[in-house]
Amino acid sequence: MGKLYGLSLGPGDPELITRRAWTLLQSPAYWMYPVKKKNGISYALNIALAAGLRVPPESTALIFPMTHNRQILVNYWLQAAHTVIKVLQQNQDVIFLVEGDASTFSTFQHLAKTVVGLDDSIEIETIAGVTSFNAAAACAKMPLADTDDTVAIIPAGYGIKMIESLLDDFDTLVLLKVKPILDDIIDFLTAKNLLDNSCFIEKAGSIEERVIHDVASLYGEKVNYLSLLMIQNPNRIRGEIIRGCRKIKSITQELGK
Ligand SMILES: C[S@@+](CC[C@H](N)C(=O)[O-])C[C@H]1O[C@@H](n2cnc3c(N)ncnc32)[C@H](O)[C@@H]1O
Repeated sequence: MGKLYGLSLGPGDPELITRRAWTLLQSPAYWMYPVKKKNGISYALNIALAAGLRVPPESTALIFPMTHNRQILVNYWLQAAHTVIKVLQQNQDVIFLVEGDASTFSTFQHLAKTVVGLDDSIEIETIAGVTSFNAAAACAKMPLADTDDTVAIIPAGYGIKMIESLLDDFDTLVLLKVKPILDDIIDFLTAKNLLDNSCFIEKAGSIEERVIHDVASLYGEKVNYLSLLMIQNPNRIRGEIIRGCRKIKSITQELGK
């Protein structure tokens, strides 16, 4: 039986592919990659191609449609899992290409669970990668977290109420999947005077990357699905760190050292 790898490729820049992932990409493993529909484009596969690799003849696109209908999704997960298992049974390793990191909001987790549900003897390994928001923070030149900062990463679809309440507790809020509610978020940021503390990043790490600090300028625009918003809340009222990792020294000790 072969082994299934969740192969994180990072957000789009081939330079952000880890060495571990790169080694596996050179191996004779069978490639599988996600598409939204039959003959659809795979962003994950395109990252590997942008790195100068060729799609091996032994490769298959697996369909994962964009729907919230659980029954439809489960059927596609099952179909994909059966396809993976068929190849593993030929004693061949399978690498499933993932955009960003395979542990972070990734189809790979559904695929892996379904595969193990069908055969719990199958070995699975997740290869860690650079997430979209790590890359976005770097290109926006906005730190995700400084010293004792708190950070929350959520799909924006939870809505404005949740965004507002999280900003009370988090210094940095990362909103993924912003496309459908971007205008509502811009209205909210305007009302809260937080536009200057926000940044929109689309296709971070790819050649089509956009970093927009003037978030309000996006009002009414149909942005790409691969986009996120970083919001920092300079007005957050901080709690106290009750027990930190740093040693507490008196000022006399500090000065005497
Ligand atoms: C299903 S999640 C995938 C997250 C991905 N596994 C990761 O590690 O970042 C898709 C969402 O992640 C964000 N995203 C993924 N890739 C991105 C990129 N290159 N630039 C900006 N946002 C991205 C977008 O918010 C998108 O709607």
